[in-house]
Amino acid sequence: MLKHLRLENVGPVDAEIQFGERMNLITGDNGLGKSFLLDIAWWSMTRKWPAEVNPKLTTGKKALPRTEGAAKIDFSFTGKSKPVKYASHYERPDQAWTGRSGRPANPGLVLYAMADGGFAVWDPARNYWRSQGGVDIQNRPSAYVFSPSEVWDGLPGVEGNWLCNGLIRDWASWQKEKGATFKHLRAVLDALSPSPEEKLTPGALTRISLDDVRDMPTIDLPYETGVPMVHASSGMRRIIALAYFLVWCWEEHQQAAKLLSEVPTKQIVFLIDEVESHLHPKWQRRIIPALLNVVESLRWAAQVQVLAVTHSPLIMTSAEPHFDDSQDAWFDFDLVRTDGTSRPFVELKKRPFVRLGEVSRWLTSEAFDLGSARSLESEEALQQAAEILSKKVTDPTRAKALDTQLRKLLGDTDPFWIRWRHIGEKQGWLP
Ligand SMILES: Nc1ncnc2c1ncn2[C@@H]1O[C@H](COP(=O)(O)OP(=O)(O)OP(=O)(O)O)[C@@H](O)[C@H]1O
Ligand SMILES: [Mg+2]
Repeated sequence: MLKHLRLENVGPVDAEIQFGERMNLITGDNGLGKSFLLDIAWWSMTRKWPAEVNPKLTTGKKALPRTEGAAKIDFSFTGKSKPVKYASHYERPDQAWTGRSGRPANPGLVLYAMADGGFAVWDPARNYWRSQGGVDIQNRPSAYVFSPSEVWDGLPGVEGNWLCNGLIRDWASWQKEKGATFKHLRAVLDALSPSPEEKLTPGALTRISLDDVRDMPTIDLPYETGVPMVHASSGMRRIIALAYFLVWCWEEHQQAAKLLSEVPTKQIVFLIDEVESHLHPKWQRRIIPALLNVVESLRWAAQVQVLAVTHSPLIMTSAEPHFDDSQDAWFDFDLVRTDGTSRPFVELKKRPFVRLGEVSRWLTSEAFDLGSARSLESEEALQQAAEILSKKVTDPTRAKALDTQLRKLLGDTDPFWIRWRHIGEKQGWLP
């Protein structure tokens, strides 16, 4: 489990974070460093930057210091055999972060679902150093890092071999086998489905082109059966890929551990960026509880920690029934505006998770910092209206003009009208 991170002169913010053991929610405006934090979390545990392993990625590049001078990343996690604590410095002459020499610590299985649909996994059974004649040798791939298309079509290795067959081939062969892996995939798909009525059900295999000899998995929808996986919608594909990735990582890890006569890992860290990506609100509301469900179903085998980045107030609302202070945490990035004499700066805070009950209250909370859950135009007009309503005497021409504007902006049943009409009639600027 990732326990702690401290960043100094790297990324948008200097910060110190103590993670929750189970679910960690991360919020904040665009560009304040949420994805960067996940990259750092991944690197701390695997010691490789995602884009270093797979140059096709457009994100996950090596972290560079913010300004001249020393830069430092401290991290600690519970390793397989003992707790790990390390302070890494950026060595400018080497353009690299210092690391401990020799066999690194084993953090368990580390999974990373990136915002653009790419995935990465570090598997202690397949990516760890091995011992030969008492000597440690790192001759395994340092991690499996998939660009979005490689998730579907497979991850090539060196010399023409394949590190992963990809979703299309694996799904088809699991389906033909009718074995435990396909059952597991079905169970994860069930858990991640938007509702019991709209289950993600695998359909019959098909072919989509004379030029593609692969058996193409399909999905059965309530209104259409056999939609080829490559034609499924963005939201469906995000969930389908997530389900496949979870099953692939877990099953391959079990198989590799068996092959090596090792005990499967007891720890899984799952980093997931923009957890609501492409999802309709109906689905957004289910994804965190569903992931926690999947986490719970693995609990018999391993302890699972989730770090999830979100831009969605519905995700925060959906976490309310499940949030447990003793094992969960919420971290929020904010841009702090100063008095105008110095530059705004980024701050990262652990916030107490308070149940706000509804989406619009989350929108106007510290998580999203909006003035209201309305359009910008309505919000501005309502601010002017509030000013008018707070005065004893009102300029009738201004109030009438604002009334005309508000009629164009607000619905007829908006609760705002009750007080507005009452005051307007009382003061005589409304008929
Ligand atoms: N490799 C890197 N080295 C140093 N700083 C980086 C690196 N990658 C990103 N950053 C910093 O992080 C900022 C972008 O942060 P990031 O992509 O994490 O934002 P985000 O909070 O995920 O935003 P969004 O919500 O738009 O995805 C950049 O402006 C830059 O300051
Ligand atoms: Mg991001």
